[in-house]
Amino acid sequence: MASLPIKAILCMQLLALFMVAFSVIGINCSWDAEEGLLRKRSGVHQRQFDYFKLSLLWPATACRNTTRCCSSNACCRSSSLSEFTIHGLWADYNDGTWPACCSGPQFDKKEISTLLKPLRKYWPSFSCEAVSNCHHGKGTFWAHEWEKHGTCSYPVVHDEYEYFLTTLNVYFKYNVTGVLFEAGYVPSNSEKYPLGGIITAIQNAFHATPELICSGDDVEELRICFYKDFQPRDCASGSIIRRDRVSSGSCPQYVSLPAYGSWGLNNHTKAVS
Ligand SMILES: *[C@@H]1O[C@H](CO)[C@@H](O)[C@H](O)[C@H]1NC(C)=O
Ligand SMILES: *[C@@H]1O[C@H](CO)[C@@H](O)[C@H](O)[C@H]1NC(C)=O
Ligand SMILES: *[C@@H]1O[C@H](CO)[C@@H](O)[C@H](O)[C@H]1NC(C)=O
Ligand SMILES: *[C@@H]1O[C@H](CO)[C@@H](O)[C@H](O)[C@H]1NC(C)=O
Repeated sequence: MASLPIKAILCMQLLALFMVAFSVIGINCSWDAEEGLLRKRSGVHQRQFDYFKLSLLWPATACRNTTRCCSSNACCRSSSLSEFTIHGLWADYNDGTWPACCSGPQFDKKEISTLLKPLRKYWPSFSCEAVSNCHHGKGTFWAHEWEKHGTCSYPVVHDEYEYFLTTLNVYFKYNVTGVLFEAGYVPSNSEKYPLGGIITAIQNAFHATPELICSGDDVEELRICFYKDFQPRDCASGSIIRRDRVSSGSCPQYVSLPAYGSWGLNNHTKAVS
């Protein structure tokens, strides 16, 4: 997104420099500028990622095993969560692997102070436990996502603020929950839905094939993928649709989208916090 203007400025500067100093124009400007920056930033050469994966969590499934409450655990909020929330925006390679913990500044909550309200609502943590960061320590869910994945989305994403803002914008633009609800796939503790139907609904809406992850029969994550310019594309390790069989991640042929509040959290666990 914002990489274009910066690339363009760098290009223009480089071109101007070369034209004035050497009258040479025959370099692949954007490529050289980008690679140079990447090297400068990480010290060692870091292979650039191929595409983005926006990973979304289904809260009722993510909260099913909740045993402890605390202020950071969205499972314990009184307001119900009945739409997919953000897990993270991940930089992936086409071969199914991904870079992790690239070089970049450590997470600093101050950087995203103006985004806290939407982040708490749409990118909450579903646990009280701290998660590992990239510096042999533990921190918040947001710190984990920025340090492990966000730092590797360079040169499309340049800093922590841009990582969180970009992810929120993509999440708002591609409303997976809205697509599923419109196709009749609404939260239910009794209905089972065909996996192929859910995949088709997303394909029809975004013209790209998603990837689903299940916990038992319950949808736990739904992932949609994007080119570096944030146009939707198929997830490289996504769903496989053959004539009469659909497979995606760990999901069975019929899946549920459990309704929020169907897990075993009660007043007793709340009291323990
Ligand atoms: C210029 O760089 C782009 C990547 O930014 C690359 O795809 C392209 O092949 C390069 N062109 C030449 C002539 O080297
Ligand atoms: C909940 O716990 C069960 C049993 O330990 C486990 O199989 C399942 O994967 C867990 N579900 C989630 C969403 O973590
Ligand atoms: C997505 O769509 C649902 C259902 O139409 C709606 O309730 C929700 O507010 C939308 N979410 C976002 C983030 O726009
Ligand atoms: C929890 O406590 C509230 C009152 O504080 C009560 O109305 C509700 O039934 C209790 N729920 C459970 C699951 O015990």
